[in-house]
Amino acid sequence: MRITIFGATGLLGKALVREWKDDEVTGFASADGDIRDEKQVSNLVQHARPDWIVLAAAYTDVDGCESNRDLAFDVNCRGAVNVARAAKQHGSRLLFLSTDYVFDGTKTTPYETNDPRSPSSVYGHSKAEAEVRLAEILPGCCIVRTSWLFGPGGKCFPDTILKLAETRPELEVVGDQHGSPTYSIDLARAIIQLCRQGASGIVHATNLGDCSWYEFAREIIAAAGLKTVVRETTSDKFVRPAKRPKYSVLSPESLQKHGIAMPHWRDALKRYLLQRT
Ligand SMILES: NC(=O)c1ccc[n+]([C@@H]2O[C@H](COP(=O)([O-])OP(=O)(O)OC[C@H]3O[C@@H](n4cnc5c(N)ncnc54)[C@H](OP(=O)(O)O)[C@@H]3O)[C@@H](O)[C@H]2O)c1
Repeated sequence: MRITIFGATGLLGKALVREWKDDEVTGFASADGDIRDEKQVSNLVQHARPDWIVLAAAYTDVDGCESNRDLAFDVNCRGAVNVARAAKQHGSRLLFLSTDYVFDGTKTTPYETNDPRSPSSVYGHSKAEAEVRLAEILPGCCIVRTSWLFGPGGKCFPDTILKLAETRPELEVVGDQHGSPTYSIDLARAIIQLCRQGASGIVHATNLGDCSWYEFAREIIAAAGLKTVVRETTSDKFVRPAKRPKYSVLSPESLQKHGIAMPHWRDALKRYLLQRT
């Protein structure tokens, strides 16, 4: 197959480029083509003629989106629409990366793919609207929602915690937001399988299991063999511009229907920390 990745320089994009073997893969950075520019996108797709486009490009600064609403919608929604139109025009399949932040987090059991969207941040709104528009333009597209990405080659939570632990004997981390940490390498492998199967519709793809950021931080410190004390705190003590869901665990059922099982996040974290040393 011929594969085109938009967002190839991002955390997930790098993992996709690294993991995707036996197919012809072309990756684009924003400098190669800005997805906000319909003509540029169409030209790139026309030239590459991919069987599949993986759209991992996004404006992912969740707090930045709150103060840059237009930019968030331009990139995450209108940019995604440009890619979907180009895919339709040139006969490519599309896999779009979306987020657990399309949900408000008021549930206490894992979100299923057919749960109604209820975003509570600008970022979540921009991705939720993109999901709706893309399914209108390309009803056969595949929308992969994921969460709490970590991995090599980008800014991620384990790196932040380990960096802080270098200079601080104690860390405070919020314990009232629950989700599923997801290793970019494991997600890339799941995406490759989904494309090879010709998947369509909404799929939830995260590492198995869930935790709070506090539990995640404790596990990072323990796995790295550090003595740093991690204390639990609450979101109201760490007020940030964007509201985060309290609970955004995504059910693995849709992925399992494709015969794909992602490892537990603890296993994924160990592998990430090993490759980091
Ligand atoms: N990170 C998470 O925790 C998380 C959670 C849930 C869902 N997701 C979704 O997963 C996907 C991948 O996330 P990520 O963390 O890998 O993202 P990332 O590291 O922030 O990378 C973003 C990528 O998008 C590209 N990009 C940004 N604006 C662009 C534009 N206007 N035109 C073309 N390319 C543009 C960037 O290119 P340059 O670097 O070349 O500028 C970069 O390759 C995104 O769709 C995101 O919404 C992420």
